[in-house]
This record gives sequence, C-alpha cells and structure tokens, in this order.
Amino acid sequence: MKANVKVIEHPLVKHKLSLLRQKERSTNSFRTLISEISMLLAYEVTHDLPLIYEEIETPLAKMRAPLLEGKKIVLINILRAGSGMVEGMLRILPSARIGHIGLYRDPETLGAVEYYFKLPGEMADRDVILVDPMLATGNSAIAAVERVKTASPRSLKFVCILAAPEGLANFHESHPDVPVYTAAIDERLDEHGYILPGLGDAGDRLFGTK
Ligand code: URA
Repeated sequence: MKANVKVIEHPLVKHKLSLLRQKERSTNSFRTLISEISMLLAYEVTHDLPLIYEEIETPLAKMRAPLLEGKKIVLINILRAGSGMVEGMLRILPSARIGHIGLYRDPETLGAVEYYFKLPGEMADRDVILVDPMLATGNSAIAAVERVKTASPRSLKFVCILAAPEGLANFHESHPDVPVYTAAIDERLDEHGYILPGLGDAGDRLFGTK
C-alpha cells in the first residue's frame, strides 16, 4: 500500500510540523510554517526533474551547464487550503505556472464536489505538482487527480503535509501510478473525516476563519 508514498523524514520538516500541530499557534505563525514546510517538500519532490546541458559563459570560461529541461512546472492548488502550500513552493520555483481546482467536501457524504477548474496551456509538456495540505479521506485528492489526468500532463505528483492511512489506501486504489509525498502519516480519521492527531482544519487555521 505504501509503495508509492514518500514520507519526507528531514528533521527540519519534522520540527516545523510539530510546531504547526500546536493548537495555540497563531494564524500568522501557522501560515509561515505551512509555507516553510512546503518549500522543503518542493525541494524533495523536484529531486528527479530532468536536466539538459547547454553551453553558458561564466566570467572566466565557457562550459556545458545543467539546466531544467522542458516547459515550466505547474503547481496545482486544490482550493482553498492548497494556497498556503503554493505560496511556499513558489519561493523555490518562482517561474512555476499555477492551476486551480475548487473542490468542497460534502459534509454528509464527505465526497468531493467541484466548483472551479483552470489550468495553464500545453499541459502535455509539463510536470505537475498537485498540492493540498491534508490527505484525509482521499476523496478530494482522487477527484482532483482524475480532473488533472484529463489534461495528460508529462508527470503528476501529489504533495500533502499530513496523510491518514485510510486516505492513502483510498488514493492508491484509484491512482496507483501517482506518487504521494507527505511530511507524516498520522494514526487515523475521526468520525467527521478529520485526521488524528492531525492539526485541525488546515483551511480555517491558514485563513483565520474558525
Ligand atoms: N481537512 C482538514 O483541514 N483537516 C483534517 O484533519 C482533514 C481534512
């Protein structure tokens, strides 16, 4: 089940995630931590981007130097909580293009309902990083990946900050080909579909809307 999941074990990520979980953390600090963790996750998730070698000139000599190959990466923000992650990732991928998917969770069925979808052009030549801080039931992630697959990107990865085992199992059943990167896998979901021990409602904590 975990074959296509990578847990980012970096001590900085672990430390920042523990701070993020604390219930007394302010909105400002929560936002900053989401951004910092996302930056570190972006570094890990881009480890296998293809390179090409081109001739450049330093002040002293010509050389063949490695540069990222292909069209700009696309970060896809699963609204609204994905926004905080996109902001952090953009700090190390400043030229990335941004897509948006609007999904809300039906409180009765916990199923994902789409209300917005907009991606950049030329997706077949682009690598996609789809972001949502919480992989809980997996329903939104599954729906988002289904939608993004219709654009046939060159590659597709899903990045979250916390995942529940139930959500991961659900996700892998639908999309075994899509790797998931996460900062941690928590214990389980509660009866409302929240991750335990988790960090609460990521969107509310990010935007101060509780
Ligand atoms: N969404 C959240 O924001 N938190 C959870 O624990 C689960 C889903």
